[in-house]
Amino acid sequence: MKKRKSIKNLIKLFIPRRFYSLVYWRKLLPYIIFDSKTYIRQSNSFYINDSEIKLKADIIMRYHSLEKGISMPQRKIPFGFNVLKTLVNECNEYGARFGFEDMQVIQAVKILNEYYIVHTINGYEFDLEMKGRLLKLFDDFSVKESTKQHELNSFHYSETASLDFLKFSGTRISNRNYSNEDVPYDIIDSAVRLSLNYPSACNRQPGRVYVVSGEEIKNVLAFQTGNRGFGQHTNKLVIVTCDISGYSDPRERNLMWVDGGLFSMNILYSLHYYGLAACPLNWAVKPKTERDVHKICNIPNSERIVLMISCGYPKEKFVQPISLRYELGKVLKYV
Ligand SMILES: Cc1cc2nc3c(=O)[nH]c(=O)nc-3n(C[C@H](O)[C@H](O)[C@H](O)COP(=O)(O)O)c2cc1C
Repeated sequence: MKKRKSIKNLIKLFIPRRFYSLVYWRKLLPYIIFDSKTYIRQSNSFYINDSEIKLKADIIMRYHSLEKGISMPQRKIPFGFNVLKTLVNECNEYGARFGFEDMQVIQAVKILNEYYIVHTINGYEFDLEMKGRLLKLFDDFSVKESTKQHELNSFHYSETASLDFLKFSGTRISNRNYSNEDVPYDIIDSAVRLSLNYPSACNRQPGRVYVVSGEEIKNVLAFQTGNRGFGQHTNKLVIVTCDISGYSDPRERNLMWVDGGLFSMNILYSLHYYGLAACPLNWAVKPKTERDVHKICNIPNSERIVLMISCGYPKEKFVQPISLRYELGKVLKYV
């Protein structure tokens, strides 16, 4: 074994590095093809809404955007009109293809009902065609009442450090409502320290954290696509990254997202423990955007951004999107 290794090293000495780079690509290619093929065929990027689960996922994503809009700290009327149109079309399509009984799609229609009421009581007049389409949809799905997003207050966070896990986990929410009170760095230190017991493959601990504060938050959040309407109130912006230096085989190419995801979840729980309102922010960006933010925050090239988290102390009163979960039977299968 030792002999084979030294022969390999000897060959490497005489063969140019560029050639080796070709060998590495050759090794990686089957994995890239496998990942890409799975993504192309199974995701909703290309074969759009060609299955029940894809259409439903799209409906959930869109209705969540409306329930978020209803819950925004400074709600503007009207909002989300393009989302509304697509959501109405998709709910109609779902009904025609798969029936009118699904819990998540009924929730979508109930949220459309709440959206309709919120707009109407704020003096917005829907055009006759849209009004007719909405009323027909409520009728088709037998929706007689609307949802009502949750009205909460800062007491929600007052005892998080002493709750048993059932209640602690049950009270964790993505909160987008932050007060002006400054979050001291030592609270962030404590939260990140607490989160360091996250599990990682072979205990490689690839997670890193960058904390942005003050004016710089605006500059960084300009690159993120999901913080409109609340990002400007962020008191501390937490950037979770994963260092890929420790992964040593193409089979491990996706482990960083698992390790980084587990680390992120631990951070969210830790922020909750310390009474902070926090919201995960997707980092689904083009390579150039990734490079730009790396530059601003001095993040080394060996790290990839996994997630951003906006946080601050919670507002006295706030409205929280319902974010209805799937029922257990949809998620859990004994094999
Ligand atoms: C990876 C990830 C990315 C997310 N990105 C955003 C985002 O960009 N903007 C946002 O407002 N919420 C974002 N969220 C929060 C989700 O909308 C939220 O977790 C979901 O609706 C469930 O609600 P809950 O966290 O309050 O239980 C994200 C959550 C995750 C896990």
